[in-house]
Amino acid sequence: MSRLLIKNAKALVGTHAPGTTRVAGAAMAQLPMIEQGWLLARDGRIEALGTMADWPGITDWNDLTVIDASGRYVLPGWCDPHTHTVFAAPRDGEFVDRIKGLSYQDIAAKGGGILNSALRLRDMSEEDLFVQAKSRLEEMMRQGTVAVEIKSGYGLSLESEMKILRVVRQLRDALPLRIKATLLAAHALPPEFAQDRAGYVRMITDELIPQVAAEGLADFVDVFCEADYFTVDEMIQVLVAGAVHGLHAKVHVNQFTSLGAIPAAVKAGALSVDHLEVMEPADISALSGSSTIPTLLPSCSFFLRIPYAPARALIDAGTAVALASDHNPGSTPSGNMNLVLSLACIQLRMLPEEAVNAATLNAAAAMDMGHELGSLTVGKRASCIITKEVPSLAYLPYAFGSDHIDTVIIDGEPVRAGAALA
Ligand code: NIG
Ligand code: FE
Repeated sequence: MSRLLIKNAKALVGTHAPGTTRVAGAAMAQLPMIEQGWLLARDGRIEALGTMADWPGITDWNDLTVIDASGRYVLPGWCDPHTHTVFAAPRDGEFVDRIKGLSYQDIAAKGGGILNSALRLRDMSEEDLFVQAKSRLEEMMRQGTVAVEIKSGYGLSLESEMKILRVVRQLRDALPLRIKATLLAAHALPPEFAQDRAGYVRMITDELIPQVAAEGLADFVDVFCEADYFTVDEMIQVLVAGAVHGLHAKVHVNQFTSLGAIPAAVKAGALSVDHLEVMEPADISALSGSSTIPTLLPSCSFFLRIPYAPARALIDAGTAVALASDHNPGSTPSGNMNLVLSLACIQLRMLPEEAVNAATLNAAAAMDMGHELGSLTVGKRASCIITKEVPSLAYLPYAFGSDHIDTVIIDGEPVRAGAALA
């Protein structure tokens, strides 16, 4: 039995009522807090919490780790529901090419981009991929991330896509943070199938999806639905095959063009639609009233200098907006959710309360974990961030670029121990 007590917190943030698995529309601005709070965790779960004024006291101090969080906020840890963290090599050369004026599309057309990443990955061993991805995830945990979704998509062949998903499984066994896996074989058309689009899609639907599902290697299925990548029809073929094998859909849509993928994905029951930088009114109305989560990736917009997703219109339409890093070597070489929070406030004009809900509760919901993560609620996992002494909650996204985190706890155990634990 392990127990952890956090007391004297300036506030426990995100103390949503039991049973709350997401917040949508105007309710996103409601971020419940308990000032001068305490929280008790047992065996990795939140057992009780309240205000110090009603502190019941502790009779048994054995095996109890005590944290005095005076002056510090305690927040649910960041959930990051969209990453491509298993990759072989950075693409900093493309970064310089973009500074010189080439676009993301120009770079892909001259052999860079996703295909470049796939060629590098096919040559790399599972061990090397694991070691690299593990250190990236350890950095993300220190930055407060307690749960993450990781996509394949840099393999683009049956063997290499499976290789990535096996690495994700190894990461799940090796690290304390929660990890969900997504099959993104439909990320780009590999050179072997350049003249046979239908053949590649058939390989995904008829061979890869059944095999991945049989080995339990993925939770979700994804498609990059975009001009020059995959069409709406091809996306639906992949989503239908995924659904048959129990893989819920999370899709890349509307990054550069609005092709009608959002209404189609909503109709197919997608868990989330991600990116959404280019939106038509019909895309927003398709999401309004649906249970599909729009997952926004503002650090991708920042890095590629493309438009930011219309977060305000999506919140006004009543949706449950989530935030993610999109960590990958091509469009977002950062898995730092603190930066995502700042960009959400500065560029998407989300209120700090909305951004925190989007990066915790709704982000957990976007990986089907809203029942166990994303808020400080009795029964949920005791996975949280304890901040340094900061003047307000808004100060976290406001003072961007500084490290405001003191301690990170996953399932009741510190993974980064700061001054609060001393
Ligand atoms: O989410 N847009 C598609 N996939 C990734 C980028 C992939 C890459 O450039 O390597 C994204 O931005
Ligand atoms: Fe992505």
